[in-house]
Amino acid sequence: MKQELHQEPAADLGMLEIQGRLRQLEQRDLWLWGAAIVVMLLLILAVVSFSLPALAQEESPFSVHHLDQAVQGLLGLVLLFSIHVIYQLILVRRLRRQLAHQLEIIARQELRTEQLRQLVLTDPLTGLYNRRFLEQHLVVEIARSRRQDYLLSVLMLDLNDFKQINDCYGHSAGDLVLTHFAIHIRKAIRSSDIPIRMGGDEFLVLLPECRPEQVLSVLSRLHGLEVEHHGRKIPFAFSAGWAACQPDDGPKQILERVDQALLTDKLTGKTQQELNRLEAQIRQAEKMEAVGRLAGGVAHDFNNLLMVIRGYTELLLSRADQSDSLSASAKEIQKAADRATALTQQLLALSRKQVVQPQVLDLNAVVADMDKLLRRVIREDIERVTLLKPGLGRVKADQGQIEQIIMNLAVNARDAMPKGGKLIVETSNVELDEGYVSSHPVVTPGSYVMLAVSDSGAGIDQETQTRIFEPFFTTKENGKGTGLGLATVYGIVKQSGGYIWVYSEPGQGTTFKIYLPRIEETDEKAKLEEAIAPPARGSETVLVVEDEMSVRRLTRQFLEENGYRVLEAIEGCEALRISNQHKGPIHLLLTDVVMPQMSGRELAHSLVPLRPEMKVLYMSGYTDDAIVHHGLLEQDIAFLQKPFTLDALAHKVRAVLDARNGK
Ligand SMILES: Nc1ncnc2c1ncn2[C@@H]1O[C@H](COP(=O)(O)OP(=O)(O)OP(=O)(O)O)[C@@H](O)[C@H]1O
Ligand SMILES: [Mg+2]
Repeated sequence: MKQELHQEPAADLGMLEIQGRLRQLEQRDLWLWGAAIVVMLLLILAVVSFSLPALAQEESPFSVHHLDQAVQGLLGLVLLFSIHVIYQLILVRRLRRQLAHQLEIIARQELRTEQLRQLVLTDPLTGLYNRRFLEQHLVVEIARSRRQDYLLSVLMLDLNDFKQINDCYGHSAGDLVLTHFAIHIRKAIRSSDIPIRMGGDEFLVLLPECRPEQVLSVLSRLHGLEVEHHGRKIPFAFSAGWAACQPDDGPKQILERVDQALLTDKLTGKTQQELNRLEAQIRQAEKMEAVGRLAGGVAHDFNNLLMVIRGYTELLLSRADQSDSLSASAKEIQKAADRATALTQQLLALSRKQVVQPQVLDLNAVVADMDKLLRRVIREDIERVTLLKPGLGRVKADQGQIEQIIMNLAVNARDAMPKGGKLIVETSNVELDEGYVSSHPVVTPGSYVMLAVSDSGAGIDQETQTRIFEPFFTTKENGKGTGLGLATVYGIVKQSGGYIWVYSEPGQGTTFKIYLPRIEETDEKAKLEEAIAPPARGSETVLVVEDEMSVRRLTRQFLEENGYRVLEAIEGCEALRISNQHKGPIHLLLTDVVMPQMSGRELAHSLVPLRPEMKVLYMSGYTDDAIVHHGLLEQDIAFLQKPFTLDALAHKVRAVLDARNGK
């Protein structure tokens, strides 16, 4: 402020001087005009004085005698006047130049003043605005938020244990922490947000157009910071308080509320806990994603192998004599392959890459159907109770997947009750409203169908609860559990657009609640379609495109045995070439989806316009965006999930070919 005061008289001096010069310029102007008038008067006077004597002698006033003198006098006057004008013009020019110079000086001074004023409003250490700026600016910002009708949030941050950092590592370390923190605050906020250092280790950020719920995501970018000071890493954390500006808040009220929030946070440490939780959630999601990708990849290759094993076993069985010991061996292979298929499906489910064919389901019916199956896996000493809500809403899901969920949860419950107990499976309609969403931020409000599985078993402690959905997390002894049960359930629930929560206390039993979005439609079409199985054989031409040699051969062999004519290609380009060279019709393109270079979908897009009568049937082991979005099949696409049985292949091929005739 002092510097500012010094600057003002200097500027005033400059202005006085300029005013003086301006006055001088005006005077010069007056002088010029005055001189011009005087010269005019003198000229008139001269003319009159020349003519008076002539008039007195009644001569012509312009007789030759007087004219000579008059012209000389006038020339003298004009000369004098010209000299005067030139002199005055030189003076005016000089004055102008001085004036311009003066103005330049003043502009430079003003710029410096502005810079100094800025300097007075910023913090020298961090370069952020300071408390003084806030005092001047908060009022403006609040007024603007009202005028433009947006929410202004105010966030206050306070470094934890800053004094200890100074004491342990010295003030240079303290300063380093402050500057580092300021840099990260700048990075974490948007350009329209205003960061301020309040002094000491306190910072404040004005967040225009920001709701309080969004503040946590800003803070998550400031989590887990550290600085390196003389080779030592110094971690630092902060407490935070924030609030939105209320309609009749002034600067004082909002600052008081934010201060209060900060104080509470310092006592409870809630922000840091929240940030730790968020970070754990993100890490968990990343881990699930990575494991999912791995599992998806493995399952994809596995599916092809299983296809071959199951396919040739089927062929073997169809040829071998039933009483033959060879047939018994083949059956064993078939059983093992079936189990392996189930395991692959589980891997795909947890990686959310399973292709689901959702249909409208009544969960009550599914639970009731499961009863027989559950009886087989749940021991006698466990009492089974089902509480099915009459008039339960419908959900759109894959029946097999829902059965898998119930089975996994029931088996877990059984294992948690080694001495017997009670297993309750319950369904009901629920509305998840805004109130519920505020405590479960990931949830979209709406109508859901709830499926709950409860047991009276050992319960799960808090720490274990945070890990149970992780793939391969198990507390069971070696060889007993794979730790894939709940990860699979989680994957399926997420793929179906639902939510799952666990409620449990050690010794008090456990409840898993699953919420699936409720839908209105009822649809029995899918079941009807399945009921009418078309005949398997045919004589049409099928172009089989599959990069896995054994699967391709098996498919070819089987189709040919069923009377079809088969053309075979390793990948898309070869398929295009074969189609070009083939003179007759191709009735069906049976193609893998995921192939190097050209996907099955791309191949179909290139081929169908050339052969409009050709039908397309895709086969794949896992979802791919080429034909499925979020695991859901696009409409009007014929699809066969690998590994498929040869019987399923025969039926599907026939069905797709016959659909051409408008069936
Ligand atoms: N109802 C329950 N009661 C107590 N603990 C449970 C319950 N359900 C799950 N858990 C705990 O969660 C862990 C993970 O369960 P998950 O189903 O994923 O794997 P698992 O049952 O150990 O193995 P898997 O299901 O693959 O055979 C279990 O090991 C168990 O500690
Ligand atoms: Mg389990």
